Amino acid sequence: MDLMEYQAKQLFAKYDVPVTVGIVVENAEDARAATEELGGRVVVKAQVKTGGRGKAGGVKLAASPEEAVAKAAEILGMDIKGHTVRRVLIAPTADIAEEYYFSFLVDRSNRNYLCIASIEGGIEIEEVARSNPDAVAKVAIDPLVGVDAVKAREIVEATRFPAEVAEEALDLITKLWTLFVEEDAGLVEVNPLVRLGDGHLEALDGKVSLDENADFRHTEHAAFEDSSAADPLEAKAKEKGLNYVKLDGAVGIIGNGAGLVMSTLDVVAYAGEAHGGVKPANFLDIGGGASAEVMADGLDIILNDAQVKSVFVNVFGGITACDAVANGIVSALGILGDSATKPIVVRLDGNNVVEGRRILEQAGHPLVTLVDTMDGAADRAAELAAAGSESKG
Ligand SMILES: Nc1ncnc2c1ncn2[C@@H]1O[C@H](COP(=O)(O)OP(=O)(O)OP(=O)(O)O)[C@@H](O)[C@H]1O
Ligand SMILES: [Mg+2]
Repeated sequence: MDLMEYQAKQLFAKYDVPVTVGIVVENAEDARAATEELGGRVVVKAQVKTGGRGKAGGVKLAASPEEAVAKAAEILGMDIKGHTVRRVLIAPTADIAEEYYFSFLVDRSNRNYLCIASIEGGIEIEEVARSNPDAVAKVAIDPLVGVDAVKAREIVEATRFPAEVAEEALDLITKLWTLFVEEDAGLVEVNPLVRLGDGHLEALDGKVSLDENADFRHTEHAAFEDSSAADPLEAKAKEKGLNYVKLDGAVGIIGNGAGLVMSTLDVVAYAGEAHGGVKPANFLDIGGGASAEVMADGLDIILNDAQVKSVFVNVFGGITACDAVANGIVSALGILGDSATKPIVVRLDGNNVVEGRRILEQAGHPLVTLVDTMDGAADRAAELAAAGSESKG
């Protein structure tokens, strides 16, 4: 479970990491009292579970309570990468001297933990990592040892934290590690971690991802869950019992079987590179029984994603044969009627594929294109998505 910034900051506070949580408001007018309480100069920050809020205009300074109300009104309701902003955090303006980046994460490929840190933090950290990788320290952490005093010192040195903040950084690193372990987190990220004008460190932003497999150890984590802030499409999918995860791209994906859907995401992302970097818009596994109803529910959710410009239905017929899936698609389109408006590329293979393709060809739905291979279908879907994005902006 990913936490929002204010929740991450609540955890930071629990572990005595220097932070000012601020005040969360859900309507703009409430920003006035919050700003007055915090001293009159604040930053208004969109609370959404996605990165790049600042660049999207979701982080704004306000020099008075009136201005805070105006900024909050601008940010509330804003769409940031498909996430609607339903609450903003009002936090006191910090006197920033320097911005650093700091994180602990699970390093799956090395079966290890990893610390990534840089003294060139802030909203351009991805660019720093690309153009100047030497400025980003990566320190492996042995899970059996964790971050002890020696490791904390190694991290401080590898990051090249300035001498005047080194001692505080050691303390902060140890506290963040304790949080990472005790809360069963998979990611703890602070960007920016700032050096203030007075020389002290403070976490100005926080990202924490908690491992849901450990929820049984943390009944208190349930309080972080927040159905109103959940993505409306994900909430709807959950209601329908669909295995759906929203992503940021333009090609909607439906497949049967988690493995096939995962590889479909890869193939679409790869094919998308030739079409201006088009990416998959979601994960959706309709499982074994691809009935018309399940197909209609799936298509309905995907077609309602404004970011989706084309859909790729990738089904390998097994126990549910291709003809049943084809009938499912045809009746799903019947159920959806005029609400289906985006091109749909279908690739069928496996049990009864010839009959499945015949059914779709015979139905001759204007939105549906049949492509025989997975690579070919991915390419076509990416091409259609790119064309759709161009024509509609
Ligand atoms: N309390 C604050 N006072 C002054 N400036 C701030 C404050 N909080 C954030 N900022 C400035 O805004 C920038 C962006 O803020 P923040 O890191 O919270 O959002 P973001 O990085 O754009 O979002 P995300 O982490 O989702 O990518 C910071 O790098 C910092 O320069
Ligand atoms: Mg940030």
